[in-house]
Amino acid sequence: MSDFPVFPSGFEFGAATSAYQIEGATKEDGRGPSIWDTFSRRSGAVSDGSSGETACGHYHRHREDVALLAELGVSHYRFSVAWPRIQPSGSGPVNTRGLDFYARLVDDLLEAGVKPVLTLYHWDLPQPLEDAGGWRSRDTAERFAEYTALVAARLGDRVPRWITLNEPWCSAFLGYGNGEHAPGASEGTPALAAAHHLLVGHGLAMGALRAAGVQEAGIALNLDQVDPATPDPADVAAALRAETQRNLMWTDPLLKGCYAAAEADTWGELIERQDFRRDGDLALASAPMDFLGLNYYTPSTVRAAPWREPDPARRTAMDNRFEGVARPGVRHTAMGWPVVPDALRRLLTSLGDRYGALLPPLHITENGSAEHDAPAADGTVHDAERIAYLESHLRAASKALAEGVDLRGYTAWSLLDNFEWAHGYTKRFGLVHVDYETEARTPKDSYHWYKAAIAASRNRAG
Ligand code: FCB
Repeated sequence: MSDFPVFPSGFEFGAATSAYQIEGATKEDGRGPSIWDTFSRRSGAVSDGSSGETACGHYHRHREDVALLAELGVSHYRFSVAWPRIQPSGSGPVNTRGLDFYARLVDDLLEAGVKPVLTLYHWDLPQPLEDAGGWRSRDTAERFAEYTALVAARLGDRVPRWITLNEPWCSAFLGYGNGEHAPGASEGTPALAAAHHLLVGHGLAMGALRAAGVQEAGIALNLDQVDPATPDPADVAAALRAETQRNLMWTDPLLKGCYAAAEADTWGELIERQDFRRDGDLALASAPMDFLGLNYYTPSTVRAAPWREPDPARRTAMDNRFEGVARPGVRHTAMGWPVVPDALRRLLTSLGDRYGALLPPLHITENGSAEHDAPAADGTVHDAERIAYLESHLRAASKALAEGVDLRGYTAWSLLDNFEWAHGYTKRFGLVHVDYETEARTPKDSYHWYKAAIAASRNRAG
């Protein structure tokens, strides 16, 4: 038992999922279409041609999944609400049958002694809102606040922790910048408008959550630990541009109420044409949060690159003069992501160095690995690589705590194997294996390891 990483008493261990990745039942109980339903149908958008139409069947099996969480011994479960179940067309009155599902899930979690942690937006925008401009349009931010108020009015008294947006960087830059995610718009510059409107939407939603009197509210960001490939000043400057696009673009407005000083260098002249930015927006976006959620998987190493488009008039917001380089000498997961646990410790400590007293308490809201695991002949799943990944990252988190970081909890991604966005069902992140034919759930070795690690931490903390 003494082998497990050490955490203070009260430290929270959890597991996470998101609606579109696990629920299935995309046409049931009045759910409307989302941008991921539409995007998945586009040829070549999802590597195995699949969609979340059936996924893990969680919509009908949520009791079984709550039982798996209870058995795991987690203190909390992070899930997301599908906006198209609540407002099938993205605005207007609540679809009660959709909201009833989450009310049942929350009741079941509470009964099982597992704290619900609710994400309002994990990428499944109602399609009618996308048809009206999506996050390029300020109107979507206003609609998001209305939707938030509807969910909080029903669940605000029973859900103690709320997350407005999951990884807005992905929504903006993968959704509208390079088109890798829904809605699949590879438009470049509109990603900046989307990013700004996501920040405004977050701020408005924080207001709605405060009005509903929820206990804790914050956001989950996929911050990147970026290192320059060499000490050459050109590479160091490239790393700052990458850091601006990935991190400062979000953390400066959220925590300081201003855009990052390095913006102009990152986006060049484009940044002067951002007429969608209105006075007061960043005061909204910087509404105090009770915690900052961090999704961490892998770091980046970058070096300087030339502009892809030499003509400034034709450049887009995706042209930032940096490029990623490989990280040899470390293991890579099935996603091809380098495993560098100490980068998590550095990321956690660097936030305090940069923001000091402005930084709220931190939660790791996602961390985990996709591995090439499959059931053995007897049905068991031996995923030693995932155990090593979880253990090394928990150790890094525990070190950060010892170095003074105010880290309150750790959430493993994911409870279940699920629909991994543009990778479809080809990448498995679960602590629990899912057979997509039968929807049978089988806890992997990593589930049993995590359960023992949680129990050991509780026992030691007394
Ligand atoms: C994150 C997403 C999550 C999952 C993991 C692997 O970017 O928030 O839904 O896909 O990556």
